[in-house]
Parts: sequence; C-alpha cells; structure tokens
Amino acid sequence: MAQVFISHASVDFAIAERLSAWLRAAGHRTFLDHDLESGLGVGDIWARRLFEELYEADALVAVVTDAFGQSPWCAAEVGIALANRLRLLPVRVDTHVDHRLISNEIQWTDLDGDGESARAALLEALRRLDGVDSGPWSADLTVYPGLAAFTAGQARIFFGRAAESRQLAERVRAQAGPRTDELVLVIGPSGCGKSSLVRAGLAPHLAADPQWLVLPPLVPAAREKATALSSLASLLAVEGRRGLAWRTDALVDALDDPGEITRLLEVLLDAAGARRLLLIVDQAEELLVETSEEQQILFASVLREAVRGPARVVATARSEFVHPLMSLASRTRLPVDTFSVRPLSPQTLPLIVTGPARHAGIEVDDELVARLVADTGSGDALPLLAFVLGELAAGVPRGGALSAQHYERLGGVRGALVQQANRALSDAAREGGRTRREVLDSLLQLITIDDHGQFTRRRVPLDDLPPLIRADLRFFVNRRLLTIHRPASDPPGGEARSGGEAGEDGRPGRGDDGGSAIGAGPGRGLQTGTTGWRARGILGRRRAPGAGAAQPTGDAADTGQVIAIAHEQIVTAWPPLADVIQASTARLRLGAQALDAAGHWAQEGHPASHLWDADRARRAEHTLGGRATFPNSPGCSWPRAGGAGGFNGDGSPSFSPRHSSRRA
Ligand SMILES: Nc1ncnc2c1ncn2[C@@H]1O[C@H](COP(=O)(O)OP(=O)(O)OP(=O)(O)O)[C@@H](O)[C@H]1O
Ligand SMILES: [Mg+2]
Repeated sequence: MAQVFISHASVDFAIAERLSAWLRAAGHRTFLDHDLESGLGVGDIWARRLFEELYEADALVAVVTDAFGQSPWCAAEVGIALANRLRLLPVRVDTHVDHRLISNEIQWTDLDGDGESARAALLEALRRLDGVDSGPWSADLTVYPGLAAFTAGQARIFFGRAAESRQLAERVRAQAGPRTDELVLVIGPSGCGKSSLVRAGLAPHLAADPQWLVLPPLVPAAREKATALSSLASLLAVEGRRGLAWRTDALVDALDDPGEITRLLEVLLDAAGARRLLLIVDQAEELLVETSEEQQILFASVLREAVRGPARVVATARSEFVHPLMSLASRTRLPVDTFSVRPLSPQTLPLIVTGPARHAGIEVDDELVARLVADTGSGDALPLLAFVLGELAAGVPRGGALSAQHYERLGGVRGALVQQANRALSDAAREGGRTRREVLDSLLQLITIDDHGQFTRRRVPLDDLPPLIRADLRFFVNRRLLTIHRPASDPPGGEARSGGEAGEDGRPGRGDDGGSAIGAGPGRGLQTGTTGWRARGILGRRRAPGAGAAQPTGDAADTGQVIAIAHEQIVTAWPPLADVIQASTARLRLGAQALDAAGHWAQEGHPASHLWDADRARRAEHTLGGRATFPNSPGCSWPRAGGAGGFNGDGSPSFSPRHSSRRA
C-alpha cells in the first residue's frame, strides 16, 4: 500500500484528517505535515523531518484551498514532491481557487457533496500507483531492484532517464494527433534499460494524466503455455473484472477476430472514464519464439487494430530483433515508429546510486559512489552495477548506510561479475551440451591482444560468428555480460523515427526458428530468476534429443550487429576466462597480427607486397585453427600467398588449405 503525504494549510487540518482517514481505511499509510509541527520547533529539525517524510512518500495529496495557495510551506512541499517525482493528487476544496496544481496536466478531483467521488478518485489513483505487476513499493522494500527491470511502482527510485521518459511520453502523446496508428518500438542494446524506461518512466507519466488508462505491461512469453494473445486476454480480464465481469477464455475467443479489440478497449476506457489507453508489450522479441507464425500474425493484427482504435502500443525489443519484428509488422500492415535508447552516460551513473538511496533515507558516502562508478566503467555495464547495488542495499534499514566493507566483501562490481559469469558458463555448458572449454573458446572470439600485450575486448559482427558460437554467447548476453549493438545506426536517445514499413521482403528475418537473431544454437530454457528475462526459446531452435550440433540458420536478422563484452573486467577478473586467455596468448597474438595485416593489406588496395609467404600463412592457419575459432573482420581478407592469386576477395578468410584451394 502507498505511503501518502498530505499537504495542507494549518487552517485546513480537519479536511486533511478526513482525507487521511479515507486512505488509512483503505490500507494506505498517511502522513500529515501537521504531525511535524506538534512538538517540534520550526527550523532545521522540522525541515529535515519534512524532507525525510516527503522522500519516503509515494504520493502527495494536496488540500487545495485559498490558504494552501498562500502558504509558503505548502509551496515548498509541492516543490519537493515535484523534484522527487512523487505522484501529485490535488483535491480542490474551494471551487474558485486558482492554483497551478489544478490543471489539465494533473489528475485532480473536487471535494464536493459527500466527498464520495473524491474518495473514489484518490483510491483509484493510488491503486494504479502501486504498479499492478510489481506490487506496492514501500520503504521496507529494496531500494535497488538488482537485475530486474524497474516497475511503475518504483518510479520514485528510477533516476537518470528523466529526459528520455519525457521524450517518449511526448512521442506517445503526439500520436494522439493526426497520425494515430503507429506502434512505438523502443529499441536499444541488451540491458541498457528499455523495460525500465517504459515501465518506470513512460507509464507513470501517462498514468498521471486522467485522460489515460495505463494497462500493466504485457510480456509475450511471460507464462508457460500462454500465448501472447491469451496473455493479453487475461490482462484485459483483470482490468475488466471491476464492473465488467470479463473472463479470459471468452476474451481469447473474441480476439480471434482482431477487430474486436477496438470494442473491448472502448468499453474499458468508458468504464475507467479515460479517453486513451496505453498498452505496453515488453520484451516483444519473445513474440518471435516458440510462437507459430499464425499466432504471431494474429497478435500483430490485434495490435494493428488496437492502434487504429483508442490504444497506443509501446513495445520494447533488443536491437538485434528489430529486423524480424519490423518484418512481422510489415506483413501485418502495422506501422512502426522506433525510439532508440542509448546506454546511460558515465556522468549519469552517480545519480542512479545516490538518487534511490536518498529517497530511501540511506546514506552512501561520496567515496563509495566514486568507487562504484569507476568500477562500473560505462553504461554498458549498468546491469552489473544494478546487481551489486541490490546486493549492497539488501537489509539496510532506513537511516542505515551502504557500506564500503560490504562492497569489499562482495568483491565489488567485479565480484558480482564473476558470480554472473560462472552461472552463464554453467548454463551454456549444461543447456547447450558443450564443454566448458568450448564455451570459453567461444568467448575468446571477443578478445584480442594489443601492441602492449594487454588483452582487451573487441567487437565482432554477429554475422561473422558461426551459429554454435553465437548460441554459447547468448547465455552471456542473457546474463548481461555481453551486449549486442547496431553500431552507428542507433540514433541518439529518443530521436529516431522510422517509417513503419520496414522489411521490404514481407517475410520474417529467419526461417523456421521464427526470427531469433543470434540463437541458432542448441539452447533450451534459461531462467535468470531475478531479471525476469526468459530466454526460453530466444536461443532459437532447440536441438532434438541426441542430435548433434545445431544447424546454421539464415542470418538476415543479425546484419549490422556487433557483439562485445559488456565489461572490460571480464577479460581479466574472471578466472576461468583469464586462464584460457593466458593459455591462448600465442593464438591471440597471432590472430591480432593477422587481423592487423589483413586490415593494412585491404587499406593499401591489396598489394602483393603485403602478402604473407605460404609457410607463414600455413603456420598461422594451423595455430588459429580455422574460421570456427577465429572469425574475420569486416572488409578484411586473409593476406596469404598461394594458389592462383593466393587470397580471397570476398571478405572471408581462407584459413584452411581446402578452402583456399577451392576459392582459388
Ligand atoms: N535508470 C536506471 N537506473 C538504475 N538501474 C537501471 C536503470 N535502468 C535500468 N537499470 C537496471 O539495468 C538493468 C537492465 O534494465 P532493463 O531490464 O530495464 O534493461 P533492458 O534494456 O530492458 O534489458 P533487456 O535487453 O534484457 O530487455 C536492470 O538491472 C535494471 O534494474
Ligand atoms: Mg527488457
């Protein structure tokens, strides 16, 4: 239940108490600023307590009267509430009063008659505030959600994305203009915070507007045996239960005709007294896996009808799934507008540590913040920072502090990383039927050695990796240890707008594995538990029992994507990989030399003078062991002499004599 701060002028105390009684009767906790004044002198203590109470609150109910408008204290309380993104719930008592809280931007209510409508409006607003999928957030709960995405109920501890939240809200609202039929697809690299942005940034923005009804997020593969459509039906049934007595099975039947969604949404809106509806489809890529093509098309068609009707649909997906999703949209004539999310900038990282701590009344000293930020390095490693913060704050009470000693004990961001990496390795070996060494060898593809002998990560185009290796790496992507980017083509946060008609061929990006971007591998289900991210099927096609290695699949969806290690420390800090790297120094060095030479050779226009002699090339081929363990670099060819002409002109290396002679 929510913690509600009731702001009122002293003369309106009786009214405030009445509102407080309503809320308490419904199970909410309330705080009246009058409580502070009794027994406390106005001054530092008062101000501090006030601050604390406001930070702890989920919402501020303002008793708007003439006296309220004239009170500097009330103005200060509203100012703090706005700064902390508390939900504002003004109750207008004097109907003539002119106050900035009584505006179209904010959901306010009149206290008239017996007060019943004001009471109902307040309780409904608080019910929505609790975040339907997350349960209520209160100061008793953890301050940092760990690896899980933020939820609507955690909006008050969600920092660092204010600008994007606003931009996205504007984009969604703007669609309420002439072009009303686009689905907004929020895209970005894995783990950059897409789900959090939509759930804790966008949703509360719109929920604060009385014209909008915001449904809880729908995750296509959230439940076993549920289709995206049946998940949508049960979500509507929950919303429709109050007063409409909807049943899930009946709704599933009804949605067999996609046009029915419009009617259903209109009934919902009518019942809620709202005009527009926000439907969030989180992890939309899950729609592409273990879902028959027929079901995919039906679901996309329902979304198309929904956006043609009163709904705005906002979906999130990792960048690498954009192509097959666009293709599905194109086939179902569902227009799509993309919104790109970039990783958080390093300058924002301190805020995401201190903001929630301050809100929860937990101390965190500057030195620890600086260490956390430095150890994290970049926004790419955000989930690791989030993970370690969750561990650090677990069990810390209000008034407590995040401790540097605890951070040491956890092994810092690095310790969290090691734990995650160990789990990913075990999953990949167990679920993929691979040896640990094979999995580690797959990771070696993402590492190189520089001129100073330093091992460092390198970005590799997904297209250059064989399916088995990509399948191994997917486990690390899901644990957020690797990230996949579309280099240079993701425009800055929130500014991308692409027409909805992408995917010219009108077909899914893949064949029978339904569009999984890099997972042609033998993976099975993977539950990362705390993340709520289900990779069941994201890895693509399952290997039949007893079958050998996974078969390669088409790579259309991967085009332009690069994969890289999210955190440089994984190269040195994770013992299993560090050992394999050490043991592979010669191979990595040779690989780096070969790539370097190939790059120069290509740059110079492929002169024969840059070619390696046959002996050297043969020795290198032998050491590197062929393409399966050493992918090519884009635009580079292997500079070897031999055969007729002696080198490939197609951008792929010819490590094996068989290849080179065939190509020659
Ligand atoms: N603004 C933020 N402040 C602090 N932590 C954040 C923020 N945004 C996201 N996180 C954390 O980063 C991690 C990834 O967030 P989220 O799940 O929202 O990303 P995503 O892009 O949806 O990931 P995926 O690609 O797996 O769907 C989570 O641990 C989440 O708690
Ligand atoms: Mg997500």
